[in-house]
Amino acid sequence: MEKNPLNLDYLFEVSWEVCNLVGGIYTVLSTKAKTLQQINKDRNVFIGPDLWKEKESPYFIEVPSLFKDWKKIAAKEGLQVRTGRWDIPGRPIVILIDYNNMYPCRNELFTDMWNWFGVDSLPAYGDYDESCIFAYASALVIESFYKYIRGENLKVIAHFDEWITGMGLLYIRHKLPAVATVFTTHATSIGRSIAGNNKPLYDYLPGYNGDQMARELNMVSKHSLEKHAAHQAHCFTTVSDITARECAQLLERCPDIVTPNGFEENFVPKGALYEEKRNIARERLLKLAGSLVGYEPDECSFLIATSGRYEYKNKGIDLFIEAVRRLKETYTGEKEIIAFVMVPAWSGNAREDLALRMNAVENFKTALPDPFITHALYNYNEDRVMSQIHNGGFSNRPEDKVKIIFIPSYLKGDDGILNLSYYDVLIGLDATAFPSYYEPWGYTPLESIAFGVPTVTTDLSGFGLWSCPSGACPVNEKGVAVLHRTDSNYDEVASQLVETIRDLSGKTVTEIENIRKLAMKTSKQALWKYFISYYEQAYNWALKSVNKTDN
Ligand code: GLC
Repeated sequence: MEKNPLNLDYLFEVSWEVCNLVGGIYTVLSTKAKTLQQINKDRNVFIGPDLWKEKESPYFIEVPSLFKDWKKIAAKEGLQVRTGRWDIPGRPIVILIDYNNMYPCRNELFTDMWNWFGVDSLPAYGDYDESCIFAYASALVIESFYKYIRGENLKVIAHFDEWITGMGLLYIRHKLPAVATVFTTHATSIGRSIAGNNKPLYDYLPGYNGDQMARELNMVSKHSLEKHAAHQAHCFTTVSDITARECAQLLERCPDIVTPNGFEENFVPKGALYEEKRNIARERLLKLAGSLVGYEPDECSFLIATSGRYEYKNKGIDLFIEAVRRLKETYTGEKEIIAFVMVPAWSGNAREDLALRMNAVENFKTALPDPFITHALYNYNEDRVMSQIHNGGFSNRPEDKVKIIFIPSYLKGDDGILNLSYYDVLIGLDATAFPSYYEPWGYTPLESIAFGVPTVTTDLSGFGLWSCPSGACPVNEKGVAVLHRTDSNYDEVASQLVETIRDLSGKTVTEIENIRKLAMKTSKQALWKYFISYYEQAYNWALKSVNKTDN
């Protein structure tokens, strides 16, 4: 690969999810890093929040000597930063910021943002303040660094992800007009909110006014910030065509470039290690089912899961459980089916009774009370997954051919029950299903096929549409089944999902092997080594447009 073809002096990328595993944006950045490093070498600098003062970060390797001279200046300016590398393939440079000393600047910052751009922070609540303070601190870091490196015709790009970092972009835009800015949104906050509030997002899209809906759904500040960042960026991008349409309508700016999310194959173990990890995952998952239900599950049980952030309707968690319920009522196949809902919820500790069993050698013959869940839930009675499981008439008896288990904890290797990271669990599954209603990209199905696990998703997800542009595909074509989903066909999608699971679980070993290979093959078309070209276009676009407008 050509070295530094963009010939950049620096490319900063600011995100709340740098060295901070929250959701899909973490996957975007952490998988993209290696390819970016190959292109730009150490000219890439990720900027994230320093949330690790009290405890050691599993992601960040501090390198105090990095940018030592600049750090002395930054410290004088009141910037509390640590430099180092992100412990992921590519090992990119990272600056982490402790922004807590910046809160006193908040009112002035919000006033400036109002005066300079018209961002309306007055009705803000929740995570708005913290996000904006972090974004602002990131912009100060870029400004300080930029002034430190100085020089004629510097080619510097500042790239900001998601509304959270919007004020950083706006600040740079105002203060450093020669820096090219890129804004990538991974959803529109108002679109997600419309969808999550059970309003029809798609049929009615051309009729929605983003500002008016933001008032109705109490989203004014986030929406205002996101919209201004989108409008001010030299290059505005989003992750799929479906979200580009949403941006055009609700943010009233059409993205300049669609930058789909890729994957990095280094995250997937190979050969004997793959087999070993797959066996460990299956063993743990079967042990979990056996320990909860009090029986010895067959080794050939069909293990299927859904996962993701707890967006009950948007991620299709409701549809998944409904499909498993229908399957339970009608299934006559040989193989036992165990369905897992791996969605972090408001959970506390791992159940002690279960943890004891997970660590014991023997099998157990009696069920635990509540054989559906692995951790304590603070809001058990209101939890929607738990309610749906109870209302669906599941009983998880040993003789039930279809069982369901809720794992409401983050899977980072320390959950107390499986003690495996998400990828180390994913590798053991036979299939996954993500029947999303709102999903700008959808890494979960892409990760799944990258690990050779066939998946089911919908054409309302960016990834689903990318893998099957015609809108509906059976699983045996590419290892990805795409179901056609609309505002109003929940029932139909549930039936199709049932049929897809039934079909997959009934396949022979050879058929399954083929589908697994197809899945992996499809995922290889979505590697960053191909998709990075969209970002290169975006960077070039931003550089050209900064020259046009400001120099
Ligand atoms: C957001 C979107 C998700 C996407 C991710 C990364 O979390 O909801 O669909 O995969 O960002 O772009």
